[in-house]
Amino acid sequence: MFDHISEQNRRRILEKLEVRRRQQVDEAVHQIIEFAKTPAELKNDLDRFIIGQEKGKKIMATAIAFHYRRLGHALKASLADNGKDLDQALRQTRTPKANIVLIGPTGCGKTYTAETASSLVGVPFVVEDLTKFSETGYVGQNTSDILVDLLVAAGGNPQVAQMGIVYLDEVDKIASEAAAYRDVSGRGVQKGLLKLVEGVENTLDLGKERLALSTKHVLFIAGGVFDRLDAVVQKRMDLHGFTGNWQDHLLTEDLVVFGMERQLMGRFPVRVTYDMLTTQDLMDILTRSEDSPLKAYVADFKTWGIDLAVKPEALKAVALRSQQERTGARGLVSILHRVLGEDMFRLPGAYTGVLEVDESYIRRRLQ
Ligand SMILES: Nc1ncnc2c1ncn2[C@@H]1O[C@H](COP(=O)(O)OP(=O)(O)OP(=O)(O)O)[C@@H](O)[C@H]1O
Ligand SMILES: [Mg+2]
Repeated sequence: MFDHISEQNRRRILEKLEVRRRQQVDEAVHQIIEFAKTPAELKNDLDRFIIGQEKGKKIMATAIAFHYRRLGHALKASLADNGKDLDQALRQTRTPKANIVLIGPTGCGKTYTAETASSLVGVPFVVEDLTKFSETGYVGQNTSDILVDLLVAAGGNPQVAQMGIVYLDEVDKIASEAAAYRDVSGRGVQKGLLKLVEGVENTLDLGKERLALSTKHVLFIAGGVFDRLDAVVQKRMDLHGFTGNWQDHLLTEDLVVFGMERQLMGRFPVRVTYDMLTTQDLMDILTRSEDSPLKAYVADFKTWGIDLAVKPEALKAVALRSQQERTGARGLVSILHRVLGEDMFRLPGAYTGVLEVDESYIRRRLQ
């Protein structure tokens, strides 16, 4: 049904909606400009979700907290100078940016950390797959695609969009093959990224309206597995007689040998390495992470009056099996589903009470 509303009422509703929209924009902007979390506080918040990766999380939290603190302060100063015009402040402010390279095995929390940190800071987050870039190859188009994604993630707010975080996924896949035979396509994509990361302004033509958006204040996090990068670093360490963990010795030099452009890596001064998750990490993800897939299953069963009780040795069996799949924490979800799938079908409506899952239960289900 389509009710007729008077012109006066229509206008009143539209006004209210506009006021609400403006309030939301102000709040979102305010939250960024007044960003006040210390690196330690941000790390503490990350700890609720991301298990393990202690060293890496520390560097991530520090880099992200400093980025938003620096941006917030610069914008505030500029706003005070030019009478509260945020667009102008965004355009005039220049802050040095420390983008991040995040290196680690699949499913160990790279994208998850970047996404969680964005939501903790209160900025939009988008993931851009760089392998897609090499196909299109056209830098201008890539840039406006990213800006559109940011704008959508920012709920249509152009100012907030320009302060978001872009996760450049599979950055290791655009490495040139071998330094000796510079792969032209990979190199071209990397060159194109230089400008994007540094800050380019694009105008989005929306028909009625044109929006000039820039990536100048966007924080870029480039993530990848970087398979065999450890061997590159180790080789250099052996040559110089260095000992210790390769992750502590990683230099730009090694990334260049791997196939990354020196100029591009210069724009990503913060280097973070994540480790393979241990059995204990995987168990902790099941029991301690706020996003734990097990907690979700427990809550689901509870709605049917079933108390899912997983014994510690069963948790360990799930973690060990997941480790065999070599997909990091991703394996946990599919294994839990395989373990519980039958009872999820059978028990609701037919049984209430405790469903105890021990090691033999797991073994039976995972044959
Ligand atoms: N350290 C962790 N703590 C808690 N949960 C984790 C952790 N690592 C991974 N997970 C879980 O596994 C999922 C996949 O992890 P994520 O997307 O971060 O992988 P990734 O490191 O980006 O891997 P890829 O290189 O394949 O993209 C996450 O959504 C999260 O649910
Ligand atoms: Mg990822």
